[in-house]
Amino acid sequence: MAGKLDTKVAIITGASSGIGAATAIALAEEGAQVAITARRSERLNEVAQKIEAVGGKALPIVTDISDETQVNSLVRHVHTTLGRIDILVNNAGMGALGTVEEAIQQSGGNSST
Ligand SMILES: NC(=O)c1ccc[n+]([C@@H]2O[C@H](COP(=O)([O-])OP(=O)(O)OC[C@H]3O[C@@H](n4cnc5c(N)ncnc54)[C@H](OP(=O)(O)O)[C@@H]3O)[C@@H](O)[C@H]2O)c1
Repeated sequence: MAGKLDTKVAIITGASSGIGAATAIALAEEGAQVAITARRSERLNEVAQKIEAVGGKALPIVTDISDETQVNSLVRHVHTTLGRIDILVNNAGMGALGTVEEAIQQSGGNSST
């Protein structure tokens, strides 16, 4: 596979679904080696299989990005295994739909102040 990102290494967080998975596949299609991370290993492996099916190279690494130790370990692992890091797509997260007051209440805060 030859593309604009040949020789590049990318880390994509939140790559087990949605925007992160689609981004990982798109970067791999352009030739990047992609380290794909999230908490659900089964979903990550499915995305890795899709990447390999289109001729790309994926390195799935289970990581909870809310844990600094796991994030440091992720970066070391990618650098050691793939030799470089050129791109970070820091996509992992979750959306909350609702009002500001509802978000404050869901987080255990007090919306009356
Ligand atoms: N879709 C939208 O309309 C929209 C709009 C604005 C912003 N966004 C933002 O865009 C990003 C992707 O959205 P999406 O719609 O593709 O959501 P999604 O399908 O729910 O994907 C979220 C990804 O984040 C991962 N993730 C969540 N918490 C994590 C954690 N602590 N550690 C590691 N990975 C974690 C999830 O994987 P695991 O559960 O396997 O860990 C999953 O792969 C999110 O940050 C979202 O807030 C989306």
